[in-house]
Amino acid sequence: MTFRAFVLTASDAGFRGEREDRSGPEARRLLEDAGYAIAGYALLPDDRERLAETLREVADGDAADLIITTGGTGFSPRDCMPEATADVSERVVPGIPEAMRHASLQITPRAMLSRAAAGIRKGTLIVNLPGSPKAVAECLTVILPSLEHGLEILKGTASNCAETEQERSVTP
Ligand code: MTE
Repeated sequence: MTFRAFVLTASDAGFRGEREDRSGPEARRLLEDAGYAIAGYALLPDDRERLAETLREVADGDAADLIITTGGTGFSPRDCMPEATADVSERVVPGIPEAMRHASLQITPRAMLSRAAAGIRKGTLIVNLPGSPKAVAECLTVILPSLEHGLEILKGTASNCAETEQERSVTP
């Protein structure tokens, strides 16, 4: 099954045309390489309301199965992507950001400075990534192998992980 991915980038400077955004294109490239159909791309300023509105529109309109966001996860006063994500999420998905930070800490201790979150709204999974193209690639590499199974469960095309867990369990 081909899943649809929407990429949403938050960057004040990118939105004003003062800096070329490379994180969104990097996310799109890696998602396409992984077999996703790109459902759309938006570059918005670091505005909590506008970001939340776009996340809501994509999820409620069933325009994508997955929304990957880039940028706006740090400590700058304008960084608000995790808050916009929390505003629209019906269920939180802590394991995905936990896995990204865990793996990223092996690369840079500054990985702890990303407040990236993930959540589910209706049939859409939303995952925040940091805003550098390097971080986008590092984080997507960690999560892509497991995302598809999560989306299959979300969409009802796979029921659960019971069999896999049984296969993995070792009885002495
Ligand atoms: N994660 C990975 N894998 N690689 C990185 O280079 N950079 C960190 C962190 N996460 C980084 C990373 C840094 S320096 C910051 S400030 C935070 O992400 C927040 O980035 P953002 O504000 O662009 O979202």
